[in-house]
Amino acid sequence: MAEERFPALVLEEKEGKVVSELREIGLEDLPEGDTLVAVSHSSLNYKDGMILKGLGRLVRRYPHVGGIDFAGTVISCQSGLFQPGERVILTGWRVGETHWGGYAARARVKGEWLVRLPEGMTPEWAMAIGTAGLTAMLALMALERQGLEPAAGDLLVTGAAGGVGSVAVMLGARLGYRVVASTGRPSEEAYLKGLGAAEILPRQALLDAAAEKKPLLSERFAGAVDTVGGQVLAGLLPQLRYGGAVAACGLAGGAELHTTVIPFLLRGVSLLGIDSVMQPRPVREAAWRRLAELLPPERLAPVISRAKLADLPRLAEEILAGRIRGRVVVEVGG
Ligand SMILES: NC(=O)c1ccc[n+]([C@@H]2O[C@H](COP(=O)([O-])OP(=O)(O)OC[C@H]3O[C@@H](n4cnc5c(N)ncnc54)[C@H](OP(=O)(O)O)[C@@H]3O)[C@@H](O)[C@H]2O)c1
Repeated sequence: MAEERFPALVLEEKEGKVVSELREIGLEDLPEGDTLVAVSHSSLNYKDGMILKGLGRLVRRYPHVGGIDFAGTVISCQSGLFQPGERVILTGWRVGETHWGGYAARARVKGEWLVRLPEGMTPEWAMAIGTAGLTAMLALMALERQGLEPAAGDLLVTGAAGGVGSVAVMLGARLGYRVVASTGRPSEEAYLKGLGAAEILPRQALLDAAAEKKPLLSERFAGAVDTVGGQVLAGLLPQLRYGGAVAACGLAGGAELHTTVIPFLLRGVSLLGIDSVMQPRPVREAAWRRLAELLPPERLAPVISRAKLADLPRLAEEILAGRIRGRVVVEVGG
């Protein structure tokens, strides 16, 4: 039988720069793992953009195949966790960073990293949600655990037109919150209102609030999903209502946080950290079940654009520049 060849976007380091090339590779090229998956779809997340451009020292060894999430069908599994033919999702575990990821039509991984596709969900639908959507769900679940409910007041979502932000706006609206969407792109107002945002808050308003350097401002938001970090997070903390909470999940606007502890001490505000990468499997499964229920494909349609492996080098620049709207689904294999 002829050796199986399949497409992969391979990253190489050349003269200190990371370059990508669409190639045919074989199973013998894949890293070790107990489970082989036929990848049908992957997606583009902010971290994928960083990896494709060689930023943040996320990848230490080349050649490398990126793609921090994927969905597809199990071909073989030595771990006993899955049967051939079962459909699975992978997010996190530093796949696409320290282990080859979803930008190839085959992936060899640990079975314990995979979750089953929820009943009725297709791989394309799963990747329309992807790591970004899972993170948005984890953020809302963390706020719920903190006691936040729609009656408490407005839910702010920052970086609202991006991947995590768009899904957080949709989820917030679906769960009954009055969602305030903060964006640096006024042109996305109609898009965000279409996703369920009740109000648009220009990003600059939060930056201006941070520049005031006042430890407390008027109480405005009961909760927030922050995908931006930096000065945007610094600008929203003094505006959280008494007992409010922010789920911090991103750093698109900067990793540093210059603020005071006053909102924590005088308003009992909570800063909740969100990590999607190392979440235990039961939490992921619970989050995916809720995503399947809350975001059927017809609701997700407005946030999706589609791409091929060959489009990724260009799209990496776009996502790092904050110019991607919603979620990009990558069609990988058949
Ligand atoms: N904690 C986790 O496990 C986890 C998981 C997934 C993602 N993340 C992080 O979450 C963030 C969003 O990821 P994503 O995939 O949704 O990326 P994305 O699609 O690029 O969305 C990021 C959004 O942030 C805003 N933004 C971009 N550059 C900015 C800047 N310089 N200043 C202020 N706002 C800026 C833009 O929104 P507007 O145009 O609407 O302003 C942009 O659309 C990233 O930092 C990513 O690393 C974390």
